[in-house]
Amino acid sequence: PGPDGRPVRAAQPTVVAHRGASAYAPENTLSAIDKAARLGFSWVENDVQRTKDGKLVVIHDDSLARTTNVEDVFPGRAPWKVKDFTAAEIARLDAGSWFSPAYAGARVPTLDRYMRRVERNHEKLLLEVKNPELYPGIEAQILKSLSNEGWLDRAHQNRLIVQSFSADSIRTVHRLKPALTTGYLGRPKVADLGGYAGFADLVNPAYADISASYVSAAHALKGPHGKPLRVFTWTVNDAATARKVRGYGVDGIITNKPDVVRTALSAD
Ligand code: G3P
Ligand code: CA
Repeated sequence: PGPDGRPVRAAQPTVVAHRGASAYAPENTLSAIDKAARLGFSWVENDVQRTKDGKLVVIHDDSLARTTNVEDVFPGRAPWKVKDFTAAEIARLDAGSWFSPAYAGARVPTLDRYMRRVERNHEKLLLEVKNPELYPGIEAQILKSLSNEGWLDRAHQNRLIVQSFSADSIRTVHRLKPALTTGYLGRPKVADLGGYAGFADLVNPAYADISASYVSAAHALKGPHGKPLRVFTWTVNDAATARKVRGYGVDGIITNKPDVVRTALSAD
């Protein structure tokens, strides 16, 4: 209990809309981040990859097949890899109909266009460098694009985290732009966490891979900016799991259903 006898509440974890509010609108589209904003959430997550002609686009899979109508528009081009299509070709694709006819005509956004919408919506971004091994030099290119959009200035410092499953990629981002907040998407052994804390401000494992002691071990370390190493976890889409990981002390919960998580965390 606190000095007034009431229970002291730990800070609530940050709720991050995974690929936007992706349970309710097609993932990684502008509609998905608009939906997150309408639900009252400021943090959104996305995935960034590169086209054949070197443009950055927001899409999760390395293939266009699952989330667009590419098989109909370009039937002869299996396996429809993002890196084998130009930005102009990708701009022709429907990235909404697979999800619902209500979203017919949604597009795969370019990163620039996406950033402008994040800005317009007053949102904050957890940007994932996706499959960086397929796109040499993509880290510098992403930073250039963010810089062009004004996202590397001081005012945006608390509104942007760059994360990846590739430790090499995050090491590169940290080296190129040391002031930026970075996250490693994985679950290093506790004994190895100190090494990651040299270049990552956060470690972001799947929720099944963490425990209260893991989160405490992270918090006992200091990240590259001298603050405790934070833990965001994914992908938590139900109330019971949200409450469980909150009990572990996580700093952030990445979810397709941010409203469900918010309700779960405010219920007690
Ligand atoms: O932000 C965490 C999460 O996005 C990692 O997995 O496959 O959805 O990119 P994935
Ligand atoms: Ca992701």
